[in-house]
Amino acid sequence: MHKLRFSHLFSFAILMAAYTFQKGSAQSPPGFQPPVSNHLTVSYGSDAISPAGITVPVDDSTEVASAPSLGLDDARATFVTIMLDFSIETAGSNTTLLHWVLPGLSSNGATNLSSQRAEIAPYFPPGPPAGQTHTYGIFLYNEPTNFAVPENFVPFFKNLTAPGASVLTRVGFNLTNFVVETGLGAPVAADWFLVRNATMSSTTTTTATSSRAVSATNTGASTGSTSSTSSNPLTTQSASDAMTIRIKSIVVAFGALCFVVNLL
Ligand SMILES: *[C@@H]1O[C@H](CO)[C@@H](O)[C@H](O)[C@H]1NC(C)=O
Ligand SMILES: *[C@@H]1O[C@H](CO)[C@@H](O)[C@H](O)[C@H]1NC(C)=O
Ligand SMILES: *[C@@H]1O[C@H](CO)[C@@H](O)[C@H](O)[C@H]1NC(C)=O
Ligand SMILES: *[C@@H]1O[C@H](CO)[C@@H](O)[C@H](O)[C@H]1NC(C)=O
Ligand SMILES: *[C@@H]1O[C@H](CO)[C@@H](O)[C@H](O)[C@H]1NC(C)=O
Repeated sequence: MHKLRFSHLFSFAILMAAYTFQKGSAQSPPGFQPPVSNHLTVSYGSDAISPAGITVPVDDSTEVASAPSLGLDDARATFVTIMLDFSIETAGSNTTLLHWVLPGLSSNGATNLSSQRAEIAPYFPPGPPAGQTHTYGIFLYNEPTNFAVPENFVPFFKNLTAPGASVLTRVGFNLTNFVVETGLGAPVAADWFLVRNATMSSTTTTTATSSRAVSATNTGASTGSTSSTSSNPLTTQSASDAMTIRIKSIVVAFGALCFVVNLL
C-alpha cells in the first residue's frame, strides 16, 4: 500500500519537475499562446538575450536603446518580427505596448537576418517606469505573400508615426487580431526578456495613461538587422538567476515529495 502510494507520488514529482523544465525551456513569455519552442537569437550589440527570460537592468546599460539584431539557424524564408511589452498596467488586466514591427527579414540559409524593407512600427526602446519590471516578447513569423497591414489597423500604425506622436499611441495593440487578419500563423521562433527600472519610485503606482509610463526616448532604428549566434549572454548574473529559479523549482518539487512521504 505504502509502496504504491510512494510510486504514485514519485511519478507526480517527476512530472512536476519535467513540467518545470518544459516551462523553463519555452522561448515565448509565460502564458503566451501558443508557446514557442524555437529560440530566436536576439542580440543587443554583442549581448545576446539568452537564455530566454533573463533580466536586463536598463539603468545599468544602454544596450536596448536601438533595435536588436536577429538570427535564426538555417533560415530559408522571409519573416516578420513583432516585439511587444505585455506589462502595461491598466485598471483591469494589463495590456500591451507595440515596440517594433519589421517585415522582409531573410538570410538565404545563413543565420543572420536582415531586411531591406521599412519598419511598419519603428523600434521603440523598452523603458518601464521607476520600480517596475516589464515583460517583453519578440516573435518571428513566416511572412505570407501579399502581407500587408489590415485596413482596420491602418489608423493605429499611422498614429505611431504622426508628428509628435506620443508613446501612448502604441498601447493596446491586439496581437491576436493582427495575426489572424494578416494570416501570420504561429510564431516560428521567439525570445523574451524582462527589463527592470531599478530607480526607486516616490509614488507607489504609475499607470499606462501617464506619460511617465514609458519614459525612454525613441531613438529611431535601422531598417537592417544582422545577428550572430556566437554573442555573449547579456549578463551572466541574469543567466544564472534563470538557472537558479529552475534548480529551485526542482528542489521544491523534491521537498514536497519528501514532505508527503514523511506523512505516510
Ligand atoms: C501588470 O503589470 C505590472 C507592472 O508592469 C506587473 O507588475 C504585473 O505583474 C502585471 N500583471 C500581470 C497580471 O501581468
Ligand atoms: C526609470 O524611471 C524613471 C522615473 O520614471 C525615469 O526617469 C527613467 O528614465 C527610467 N529609466 C529608464 C531606463 O527607463
Ligand atoms: C489615431 O489618432 C486619431 C487622432 O488623434 C484618433 O482620433 C484615433 O482614435 C487614433 N486611432 C487609433 C487606432 O489609435
Ligand atoms: C483582442 O481582440 C479580441 C477580439 O476583439 C478579444 O477577444 C481579445 O481579448 C483581445 N485581446 C487582447 C489582448 O486585448
Ligand atoms: C552576423 O552578425 C554579427 C553581428 O550581429 C556579425 O558579427 C557577423 O559578422 C555577421 N555574420 C555574417 C555572415 O554576416
